[in-house]
Amino acid sequence: MENILNLKSEILAQITSAADLKTLDEVRVSAMGKKGKLTELMKNLGSLPLEEKIALGKSLNIIKNEIEQAIESQKNILEAKALDEKLKKETIDVTLPIRPETQGRIHPITKIYEEIEAIFGQMGFDVVNGPDIEDQFHNFNALNMPANHPARQMQDTFYINNDPTMPFDMDSAYVVRTHTSGIQIRTMEKQQPPIRIIATGRTYRSDYDATHTPMFHQVEGLVIDKNITMAHLKGCLYDFMKAFFELEDLPVRYRPSYFPFTEPSAELDIGCLKSKDELKIGAGTDWLEVLGCGMVHPNVLRAGGINPDEYQGFAFGMGVDRLAMLKYGIPDLRTFFESDVRWMKHYGFAPLDFSSMTGGLSDNGGLTR
Ligand code: PHE
Repeated sequence: MENILNLKSEILAQITSAADLKTLDEVRVSAMGKKGKLTELMKNLGSLPLEEKIALGKSLNIIKNEIEQAIESQKNILEAKALDEKLKKETIDVTLPIRPETQGRIHPITKIYEEIEAIFGQMGFDVVNGPDIEDQFHNFNALNMPANHPARQMQDTFYINNDPTMPFDMDSAYVVRTHTSGIQIRTMEKQQPPIRIIATGRTYRSDYDATHTPMFHQVEGLVIDKNITMAHLKGCLYDFMKAFFELEDLPVRYRPSYFPFTEPSAELDIGCLKSKDELKIGAGTDWLEVLGCGMVHPNVLRAGGINPDEYQGFAFGMGVDRLAMLKYGIPDLRTFFESDVRWMKHYGFAPLDFSSMTGGLSDNGGLTR
């Protein structure tokens, strides 16, 4: 009996000093597992005389219960302690800024698109997209540029054979679109006026130097309704330029020009100087051409299924990359597409700096930087 009591206090001491759940379980196994000390004693009961067996059995059962309870309560203590430590280690202060600090940057082209969409969006324009690979009808013919029209030479076009099992056929070949104007035709085919859209996307021409890359980006606009005039065109694009360059007194001028799909046509220039001695945009002191525009040619309306005797409108197109270079002072267009992370770190924008007319276009007051 004395041995049993010693064993009991020895086991109880081991239980209370067990510092973690693993040790506690080892103590339990060594006492009450298949070969545990207590289990051995229980097994030996069989060989004792009846009376001793009853007495000893009773005390062993009591001790067993006590030990089980002690293990249970130590287990509760250790589990609470483990949870506590885990919570302490995994504490998150949700009021801290994002950690690690965000490394990603928004590419200037994406940013400029965001800005342009914010401005025209506020004027009530929808943003539409179209296929990069176009048929010649949408890229040329419907835009008043039939086959052999000299204006086709203005754009160094990449042609794609539309049937690889046949020899290349210039007349049926597809093109990677040379401008986003095809989207204007696609929109007219689907929708009767009033139309007020901007068409955005990648465009392709065979050209490569500091201000030309074979792939570049455009935004084109189309407004068609009854009684739309050149005055609407001028006011709309002037408002856009001022909003985009974030300069109220930006000098602009319209210069007569030629496009097959508009008549009359014009090009819009912005003044490099805000005032005589204050350099604002670009490096020169002269005018910079930033977009082409004009009143939509009746042939183009007809090709899009719109009656030119009832409706008229204006269209414009501009190079997004060119605008990004001007607005953010990036000297070489080719660097836009080199995927150099150092360049992105320098010219890129904070991912959460959304452009909006109310929150700011290029700068939202440092809220997310
Ligand atoms: N599509 C012309 C270009 O890519 C731009 C333009 C669009 C000019 C609409 C006038 C009107 O050069």
